[in-house]
Amino acid sequence: MSRLVFFLNGPNLNLLGKRQPHIYGHETLADVEAVCRKLAAELGLELRFHQSNREYEIIDWIHEAREIAGGLAINPGAFTHTSVAILDALNACDFPVLEVHISNVHKRESFRHHSYVSLRADGVIAGFGTQGYGLALRRLAHLIDEQAAKGEHG
Ligand code: DQA
Repeated sequence: MSRLVFFLNGPNLNLLGKRQPHIYGHETLADVEAVCRKLAAELGLELRFHQSNREYEIIDWIHEAREIAGGLAINPGAFTHTSVAILDALNACDFPVLEVHISNVHKRESFRHHSYVSLRADGVIAGFGTQGYGLALRRLAHLIDEQAAKGEHG
């Protein structure tokens, strides 16, 4: 099984650190990516880390991951609550999919309580701040290891 994982970030996450820091914290997305890269190396994972404000670009990365990756984590931003197209793309993938939110979406406005992505996600992390990114990578590594062990033992 591939040890390549994709971490995708949706709209407005390029403004992390500047945008509503009382909700999303002071770290930038580049800071988060650096922490993820260090951790991925420790876990023996190869990481592709992307952000886009465009729905089609996120869908194209999911299609790319589908061909080559062993797992995917996604913070879809506001597309979480609106995008059937991202759900459909994730439904076309066989590998583990984890959904990550920096804030606890369930403590916020009711329109954030529904997630299309959760209909596919194997696990959801919300409200752990940017620490959730590292937790998602650890879980992906564990799920990939588990799959590999299953493959070895029949
Ligand atoms: C978010 C939560 C979403 O509701 C919001 O639209 C975001 C960020 C989070 O990480 O907490 O852009 O996904």
